[in-house]
Formats: sequence, C-alpha cells, structure tokens
Amino acid sequence: MSSQEQSDPKATGWSRRNFLATSVVSTMSLSLLERADAQTPAAPAKIDPNAPVIVRLRVNGREHRVPLDTRTSLLDALREHLALTGTKKGCDHGQCGACTVLMNGKRVLSCLTLAVVAQGPDITTIEGLAGPDGTLHPMQQAFIDHDAFQCGYCTPGQIMSAVACVKEGHAETDADIREYMSGNLCRCAAYPNIVDAVKQAKPLMKEA
Ligand code: FES
Ligand code: FES
Repeated sequence: MSSQEQSDPKATGWSRRNFLATSVVSTMSLSLLERADAQTPAAPAKIDPNAPVIVRLRVNGREHRVPLDTRTSLLDALREHLALTGTKKGCDHGQCGACTVLMNGKRVLSCLTLAVVAQGPDITTIEGLAGPDGTLHPMQQAFIDHDAFQCGYCTPGQIMSAVACVKEGHAETDADIREYMSGNLCRCAAYPNIVDAVKQAKPLMKEA
C-alpha cells in the first residue's frame, strides 16, 4: 500500500463515520459490562458450620438457652453443657439404652437425638423424677428395694425406660416387661430384679 493510499480514507475503507461507529460500540460494550458487573450478586457470606446456635431446651421443668454446635446430641447437651450427668453414655450408637430420657413422656435415645430437634417438648431426665422434696419416684424406690442394679451404670436409662414402659401399658406380664425393656442392656445382668422392680412400681405409679 502506497503512502497516498494510507492517507486516503476511501482507499483504506476507514472514515470518520467508521471511527464514530466503532467508538460508540466500544463505549456501549464497556457500559454493558459495568452494568452486568453491578448486577452480579455478591458472593454469599461464608457460613461457619461450627458456629454455635442458641438452643432452647426445657429439662425437668427448667428452661435453658445453650449455645451449641448444631451437631450436638441431646445426650452431650445434657451431660456436657447442662451438667446433668445422670443420663449415661454407653455405646453412643443407639444400642444400649443407657442414655434413655423422656420427651413429653415418651422414651427417646438421647445419643441419637439432636439437641436442636429437642426444642419444644418437655424433657425429663433421671434428675427430674424425684419429687421437689426429694421423695423418690416409685420406680426409683422399687429399684432400690429389689437390688435391681450392681454397678448402676445402666440404671438411669433402665428407670426412665421402666417408667415409660408402665405408662405405655406394656407392663402387664413378666414377658411384656422383658420385651418392652429389651432395648436397655445391663452388663451386670440384673434383669430378673428389674422385672420385679417394675412390677412393684406399677400399681404405685397408678396411685400417684
Ligand atoms: S448411649 Fe445411647 S443407646 Fe447407648
Ligand atoms: S447394673 Fe451394671 S450394667 Fe446394669
């Protein structure tokens, strides 16, 4: 291309009109890019899965507000955060019954229950069974009367389960009691005495 062709707009195909059109398109592109940038939602704030949440638990008639990791079991909340160590951790896998507590009167394995889903119902632990004056619940007294324990580790869970067993109407016969208490294991094998204790407590619970 000669120097004359370079300076001749007709020869190069370049013109003032072309220049203006290109400038306008560039400016529009830039402004569209800026607008798209402004509309892009901000990245969501990072959520820390370990951040505690306030969990409200009503245990033995008392309200508690406890900051807990959402993965905390009801068992750990009771033992580690509310100092209610009567409820025992045996297997921590739902196999032994040592961690049994009552929720609205129904037995649950607190090792398999998340504390966050235990908000609302009345939770009763072994510490909440005796009367305000310290009088033992008929089931507690019956376990003592019948020597229904040796080491005692399974006993709080056995007693909570036995209370529910009677209330459910599953304590009519020895076989019934054995069947409906079968989720509570006792390594000391106090089973015959536990059956006797449940039979003693049953009529007394009805009177109470
Ligand atoms: S500790 Fe919950 S069932 Fe064993
Ligand atoms: S009394 Fe020892 S495990 Fe039951």
